[in-house]
Amino acid sequence: MFWASLAILLSLQAVDALSLSISRFKSPFHTLPLRRVEQRSNVHPQILMQRRINHGIRQLAKMSGAKAPSAEILEKRLEERALSVGFPTAIHRRHNRIDDPGEVQLEKRFNRAGVSKFRPKRQEESVTDANPPSAPNSLGLDIEGSDVAYLATVQIGTPPQDFLILMDSGSADFWVGSETCKTQGTNRGCGNHKFLGPQSSSSFAETQNTFDTAYGTGEVSGPVVTDNVEIAGLSLPNHTFGVANVETEDFSSNQIPFDGLMGLAQSSLSTQQTPTPIESLASAGLVPAAIVSYKLSRLADVQNNGNDGEITFGALDSSKFDSSTLVTVPNVNTQGFWEASLDSISVNGADLGLNGRTTILDTGTTLMIIPSADAAAIHQSIPGAQSDGQGGFIVPCNTNASVALTYDGQLFAIDPRDLAVQSLDPEGSNCASGIASGDVSSNQTEWLVGDTFLKNVYFSTDVSANTISLAKLV
Ligand SMILES: *[C@@H]1O[C@H](CO)[C@@H](O)[C@H](O)[C@H]1NC(C)=O
Ligand SMILES: *[C@@H]1O[C@H](CO)[C@@H](O)[C@H](O)[C@H]1NC(C)=O
Repeated sequence: MFWASLAILLSLQAVDALSLSISRFKSPFHTLPLRRVEQRSNVHPQILMQRRINHGIRQLAKMSGAKAPSAEILEKRLEERALSVGFPTAIHRRHNRIDDPGEVQLEKRFNRAGVSKFRPKRQEESVTDANPPSAPNSLGLDIEGSDVAYLATVQIGTPPQDFLILMDSGSADFWVGSETCKTQGTNRGCGNHKFLGPQSSSSFAETQNTFDTAYGTGEVSGPVVTDNVEIAGLSLPNHTFGVANVETEDFSSNQIPFDGLMGLAQSSLSTQQTPTPIESLASAGLVPAAIVSYKLSRLADVQNNGNDGEITFGALDSSKFDSSTLVTVPNVNTQGFWEASLDSISVNGADLGLNGRTTILDTGTTLMIIPSADAAAIHQSIPGAQSDGQGGFIVPCNTNASVALTYDGQLFAIDPRDLAVQSLDPEGSNCASGIASGDVSSNQTEWLVGDTFLKNVYFSTDVSANTISLAKLV
């Protein structure tokens, strides 16, 4: 049992209070695309989970204006987790590197142990295409890996070319790689991706401005440009966005399936200081309102139903949700994220009494990262759950626990399959929880709520009204 020997609790409390003042446009509030952790199929699942947690912690820190735990602290947690699963050598994992030497040895260990079950199926390593969208002004949302992130295809340039883009409600910059893109610190290009520039697009033009966007563990920089963008058949001629001349390996790696990222939070967060695509679509009158709506599919459901994931611009797709359950709440975030107040949190119908919590709703974050006291309270109510001592929790893989969030009087339950997110042992009896703790916000009532929850709801954001809508899926 791996967790039986789990070591020391590394408290992050010490860094809680170190708030940074944030300038409106310069700060990198961004969402970390977590896909890459799924790519190395032989990496031990506990290491994968710790990475997801580390990434979420960095992300929550950026969002809440707190100082993130140092890379050293996060590395140490990763290293301790590696040691706790029997890996004998310290991991010397370089910041922002995907392929650290430790993984190779873990891989060997698992080959030796013959634990083929740990190796994700092919589908879980790849992109699962979406069905054609059911509503106008919509795109299918492809599933990245095992529900790690959600991708859609948009057209850019003249002639228009397809780019596969991560759709992110937790940031506000839109970028793709440039034709001259280099992997940071190398002379290498940016991998097997689609690039944009004057060679491939006759309507491409650079502006005088540049951008530099730092995500949780990755960064991109380059010129702000104009070119024609087409989203779900809606044309934005001469739209302003960014192309990356430099990408860290986190984005340039061949193992990353997407070519760029579209931030769909509010443009007050844009480091490019430009309207987001949905804001441009609305101001051009191409859609009635600056609304973006998401139906995120669960890979586990695809075999039966196909992937009906969808992003809709300018409206909600009423075929995707039960309108009698629709609630619309004010956005309580003043920086430009999408953040909603919770009425209550319950486990198996029992209210945990956690009042005054708010949730940043972020499609670009895989898990839920919440203050440790709240994470502990939730897991204490889940039969058989335990802390792994390192910010994560372990739940029985067959748990039936119903963790539910109530917004505006409407209860939204998390499917137990999203709670027991990843098997940690060959028997499949103990699973990592999709709810992890991260005490990096000075605000101990603020949660970062990603796809663990958002897969269970229809989620819609409205820039003009500054509201968030949620409904139960049909
Ligand atoms: C595109 O927009 C930029 C900046 O908004 C402007 O300078 C340029 O003239 C426009 N180009 C076209 C072809 O409309
Ligand atoms: C969950 O429910 C099923 C069916 O009712 C039951 O067989 C199983 O034991 C339950 N699991 C747990 C952990 O209680």
